[in-house]
Amino acid sequence: MSTLTLALSKGRIFDETLPLLDAAGISPAEDPDTSRKLIIGTNRPGVCLLIVRASDVPTYVQYGAADLGVAGRDVLLEHGGEGLYQPLDLEIGRCRMAVATRRGFDWAGTVQRGARIRVATKYVHTAREHFAAKGMHVDLIKLYGSMELAPLTGLADVIVDLVSTGNTLKANDLVAVEDIMPISSRLVVNPAALKLKRDVVQPLLEAVARAVTARRAT
Ligand code: PRP
Repeated sequence: MSTLTLALSKGRIFDETLPLLDAAGISPAEDPDTSRKLIIGTNRPGVCLLIVRASDVPTYVQYGAADLGVAGRDVLLEHGGEGLYQPLDLEIGRCRMAVATRRGFDWAGTVQRGARIRVATKYVHTAREHFAAKGMHVDLIKLYGSMELAPLTGLADVIVDLVSTGNTLKANDLVAVEDIMPISSRLVVNPAALKLKRDVVQPLLEAVARAVTARRAT
């Protein structure tokens, strides 16, 4: 029987992936929130989990260091998806990518005037495509976190960020002015692993797909 490694990030994606893995008969031997281990064994011999940063999941899977992974659509769009088979939307980690500004910023007027704007974001690729499709001229400023601070300090006019409850925007006196796309997490698979380890990958894909469908019906 083939061995299998699955790349996951800590936090919400890990927590929401657990019931899906459970449906495939896989349960981790340790909790990554309390363990410092980066490779976690499971109840199934030969199956282990790699705990990696969310934005690194596609890279581990692309190069075959992990056979499978779970990554948000936001992360996959920035990565480009090269060398990844994406068979399944897991319908977890749901949120939306949006453009946000300071409350009171005249977004409609800015768009209408065709003014050049400064956009701060971690998602430069997605932001570039979004504004290019609208025919807007933008200067992109790459940030790695706390994008909400950018419009408050004058670093940028707007941000492109993920919005879930909207609490972070509200707490910082920002408002979403445009939705870009809905986001959820997907299962990604290394194409070589799919071929060479079909004996374990295929049943896992089928079990997870069934669990996603079953959850949708509840
Ligand atoms: C995301 C995003 C916002 C926040 C939005 O950050 O960047 O800051 O969640 O959530 P809300 O609408 O429910 O307030 P996350 O917590 O994923 O951390 P990150 O900044 O490390 O990406």
